[in-house]
Amino acid sequence: EETLKLRVGLLNWYDHNHRELPWRKTFKEEEKEEELQKNAYGVWVSEIMLQQTQVQTVIPYYNRWMLKWPTIHHLSQASLEEVNEMWAGLGYYRRARFLLEGAKQVIAEGGRIPKVASLLRKIPGIGDYTAGAIASIAFNEVVPVVDGNVVRVIARLKAVSTNPKKSVTVKRFWELAAEAVDPLRPGDFNQALMELGATVCTPLNPSCSSCPASEICQALSISKCDSSIAVTDY
Ligand code: ADE
Repeated sequence: EETLKLRVGLLNWYDHNHRELPWRKTFKEEEKEEELQKNAYGVWVSEIMLQQTQVQTVIPYYNRWMLKWPTIHHLSQASLEEVNEMWAGLGYYRRARFLLEGAKQVIAEGGRIPKVASLLRKIPGIGDYTAGAIASIAFNEVVPVVDGNVVRVIARLKAVSTNPKKSVTVKRFWELAAEAVDPLRPGDFNQALMELGATVCTPLNPSCSSCPASEICQALSISKCDSSIAVTDY
């Protein structure tokens, strides 16, 4: 019941408040395979760029990248030097190298980006987070995504105050996220959770009065979201 409330509230909030970002494209059931693949490649590139970098910084890099290498096939033929040059300023250059290696592997294995997280996970540079993001956002697979923002949101909703950096706790967050994810709109639900954490359920001074989940938030009911629960930025 609480889960249903969260799904409805969060998706409705997302429909009205989501940011227009160049890698966001509405999923259409009848989308052609080619379009789905192209979209998945864009989601992949954006999610890797977003891992250690703010959205506003990523946007121009993403746009330049997609102009130079509009498909995974184009990227697979790039050199490491070109890729690093395009990445210059974003930092953590191994992300760029992994993207190139991943593209080469996908092309070598037939040119199709896998549609499920378990297979995406086998690609260089794709971990649980990126696999879940691509599978849910680009292919509508019902899988969760847990990043720092999602950990904080769930920690507050469920008043989980154990150290979120411990691996047992992180595992628990993946379980909680898996129970919550909307079965019909998993990609939007996952992006909504991340976006809520980035814009409303912030580490400090969260805007609980404009939160679509305030009614079911345990941290808010227990402590008015005071400093005891999940205010540090993980
Ligand atoms: N942070 C990383 N990926 C994101 C996404 N797809 N939507 C919102 N925030 C994100």
